[in-house]
This record gives sequence, C-alpha cells and structure tokens, in this order.
Amino acid sequence: MARTVGLGLRVAVTGGSGFLGAHLLARLRPRVELLALARRDLSDGAMRAVGPDVVIHLAAATDPAWCEAHPDRARAANEDLSRRLAHEASKTVNTFVYASTDLVFDGERGNYAETDTPRPISVYGSSKLSGEQAVREVLGERALIVRLSLMYGPRAVSTARESFAETMLARARSGEPVSLFADEYRSPLYVEDAAEHLARLVERPIEPRVVHLGGPEKRSRHEMGVIGLEVFGIPTHFARAGLRGDNAATASRPADVSFDVRRAQSLGMRPRGLREGFEKFRDRMKKT
Ligand SMILES: NC(=O)c1ccc[n+]([C@@H]2O[C@H](COP(=O)([O-])OP(=O)(O)OC[C@H]3O[C@@H](n4cnc5c(N)ncnc54)[C@H](OP(=O)(O)O)[C@@H]3O)[C@@H](O)[C@H]2O)c1
Repeated sequence: MARTVGLGLRVAVTGGSGFLGAHLLARLRPRVELLALARRDLSDGAMRAVGPDVVIHLAAATDPAWCEAHPDRARAANEDLSRRLAHEASKTVNTFVYASTDLVFDGERGNYAETDTPRPISVYGSSKLSGEQAVREVLGERALIVRLSLMYGPRAVSTARESFAETMLARARSGEPVSLFADEYRSPLYVEDAAEHLARLVERPIEPRVVHLGGPEKRSRHEMGVIGLEVFGIPTHFARAGLRGDNAATASRPADVSFDVRRAQSLGMRPRGLREGFEKFRDRMKKT
C-alpha cells in the first residue's frame, strides 16, 4: 500500500492503478493523507486496519465483455468486494464514494436523471448496480454514488488501461480505419475532470447521495471519434460509422445512456465539452 502523509483527512482509494484512479491519486496526493490500496492490499480486514475518514472506491471489473463471460467473478468484484469494503470502513468512514456507471440504465430513453429507475441489461451494469445497493445498505447516508459516463483522455501512468479514445487515435494514426457505433449515445467525460470532481468531494461532500457526472453533450461514439480525429489532425475518414447490430456480441448494448447533468452542474460539477476535452488530451500528449 502506498501511503502519503498530508494534512487532515485520511483518504483511502481503491483502483488507483486504473485509468481514472491514477489521475485521482495524482490530484489527492498533495492534499490529504492518502492510502492507495492496490488489489493485493484488499484482503479481509485491510480497510478496517487503515481506518479511513473517506473512501473513494474505484476498483472494479470494468470490461463489459469480460463481465458477460464471467458473471460470477464480475459480481464478486463489483458487488461482494464493495459490500465487504463498506463494512470494513463503517467504523470510521464519513463518506464512502462509490464510482458507478451510466450502464446501470437500459438505454431506451436517454437523458437519465438521478430520479430515474436503473434497469441494467448487462452483467457489468447489473453488478455495478448491486454494488451501489450494497454500499448504501451498509452505510446509508454515508454512501455517495457517483455515476460516471464514458470517459476519454490520456493515461496518467503508462501501466494504466488505455481508454477507448487512445486506442482509436493510435489505430487511426497508423492508417487503420476504426469502426465506431453511430447508434450508441453517451455523455462523454474528460477523465481529468472526473478525477478533479471526485477529489473535491473529499473536501466538500455533497447532498443528495447520488449524482450523474457526465460531460455537457450527448454524443455517439462515432461523433466522438470524428471530433477526436479532427482535434488531433488525423483525417476523419478513418472513423467509420458502425452500428451495434453489425455484430451479435454488441447488438444488445444500450442505445442511449446519456445523462441529465443538471444536478451535477448545480453542485458545481461542470466538466468540459468534447472538443475542449480532446484539445486538453492533445496538449497532454505533446508533453509526454
Ligand atoms: N472508464 C470508464 O469510461 C468508466 C465509465 C463509467 C464508470 N466507470 C467506473 O469507474 C471506475 C474506474 O474505472 P477505470 O476505467 O479507471 O477502470 P480500469 O482502468 O479498468 O481499472 C480498474 C481498477 O480496478 C482494479 N480491479 C479490477 N478487478 C479487481 C478485482 N477483482 N479486485 C480488486 N481490484 C480490481 C484494477 O486493479 P489492477 O491494476 O490490479 O488490475 C484497477 O486498479 C470503475 O468503478 C468503473 O466501473 C468507468
């Protein structure tokens, strides 16, 4: 476990080796006493021993296709682990932030608000929803559910998972066309904005206890691809419009899990738009 001594709060973060987690750790490190719990640190009782004031629980099985193929292991990672960590933190924790997903919705309608009823259609979505319910059952009002939309941006560390946008840009740059769904809509969220808004929750937890954190625009993956390629100066014809139904494995993905982000905005969570996010992404890549 990596420990950084800072002022005030003891903040435990799980999933710090991941795409979002590495950005979050970089932001929290100078601000708090940070306890970064790697997967190997999550044995029984470890969270209790740490005694955190705040937990940001990001660790999860995040690949929907893997979850579909391994439903028991997906539930163990996304539901059982979340419940156990909530129990172990319950003696000390004031706020337990659980990172959830737009994929708890079925995608029939889109523009989902926090008051809408989740209805997941995938193992990933239902295991993440069960994780939400588990931490809420254990911690009540101390559980804060932050549902995130599809994130894009650079990796903070080279060992973290590549985002789909990074993979797409690399392929297009090498002259390979990339097929992107023109019929799957999300509210794309720049990863550094997600990390910054999660980091701020440590200092200023919010009410009520569920919030939809997404970018300000509803966009298809294909639209995301075209904007990303434009910003990176790569010919946009490499982004080919595909359909979920083109492939049996993707046919049942939700069509539109975009978010109504008015609650987040009213709480001061205002992630940047897609073009601005890709511009920041491009500037970051220039520096590395
Ligand atoms: N990325 C997105 O677009 C997106 C959108 C909506 C919600 N979210 C949510 O945001 C959170 C962070 O996502 P991410 O994209 O940063 O994930 P990621 O890059 O896939 O990283 C997942 C993290 O979880 C850990 N992990 C995986 N399986 C585990 C297990 N069985 N036990 C303990 N730890 C495990 C990984 O550790 P190792 O390094 O050891 O594998 C890694 O630190 C997740 O809760 C995800 O559901 C992500």
